[in-house]
Amino acid sequence: MACVVFDAKRCDAGAGRTRLKLVGENFPAVSNDIKMETLSFAVEADGLTRIYKRGGEEVRALDGVSFRVRDGEFVSIVGASGSGKTTLLNLLGCMDAADRGTLRLAGHEVGAINERARTRLRRDHIGFVFQHFGLMPTLTVHENVALPGLFGRRIWPSRHQKSLDARADELLERVSLAHRRNHRPHELSGGEMQRVAIARSLLNTPRLLLADEPTGDLDSATGESIIELLQELNRDGLTILVVTHNTALAAIAEHQISLRDGRLIQDSTDQML
Ligand SMILES: Nc1ncnc2c1ncn2[C@@H]1O[C@H](COP(=O)(O)OP(=O)(O)OP(=O)(O)O)[C@@H](O)[C@H]1O
Ligand SMILES: [Mg+2]
Repeated sequence: MACVVFDAKRCDAGAGRTRLKLVGENFPAVSNDIKMETLSFAVEADGLTRIYKRGGEEVRALDGVSFRVRDGEFVSIVGASGSGKTTLLNLLGCMDAADRGTLRLAGHEVGAINERARTRLRRDHIGFVFQHFGLMPTLTVHENVALPGLFGRRIWPSRHQKSLDARADELLERVSLAHRRNHRPHELSGGEMQRVAIARSLLNTPRLLLADEPTGDLDSATGESIIELLQELNRDGLTILVVTHNTALAAIAEHQISLRDGRLIQDSTDQML
């Protein structure tokens, strides 16, 4: 169901320039139009349940989780290892489907739209940031940031390569890494790699940013600079949901959600459950 990039290679774009091309997977042109309405809730989860089958055994990774996130909120999701945080983020990012319950993203019921429409929703409106950065080692910093533009040909058609390049440069400026444009990921520090990953997540101007332990691989000072960047993006209007064990990051979130054994045990917008 999820789009996975296997690889990207450079091809000749004429006049001595090169351009990236995806290889390894066909990306269907998405025909359904999803009109994103300006609604007050970015996320409405009602009774989300996800049961994994492992051998003959069932693991109830999420069990009836309900909460709402307003547009523009900064939300932290906390809980012990195995409590269901990544499972929840995968559902919110349309990377996986719930076995029970309903999920509305910006007013669209995810279970009621077809797979192509879900792909488009994920591609155009949701940004992802992961603990281990997920950068492609063979590509430059600039190419890594531009990579999601290769999925969105309706946004960045090939004749607009220049605007894709310019957008990637603008985002590198935004995360203060313009001077590292032509470097490869292995030449960067952990904090720099995470800033590149954040810039990449912003390429298609998402409304919702989902981050799974974005400071998990960083020392505390570097983690702080990532927290500040996320705060700035949130002040600019981006809705952010971040899974974290980092107490500083959890504390700055205006809205905190706690999970235990797949159940929501606390939502700071409600009473203790
Ligand atoms: N693909 C899978 N198949 C079977 N069980 C799974 C699968 N993915 C996760 N689980 C189980 O579901 C439960 C929740 O896992 P999840 O990865 O969501 O936890 P988490 O809160 O993100 O933990 P961590 O803090 O360690 O990342 C765990 O018991 C885990 O073993
Ligand atoms: Mg996890």
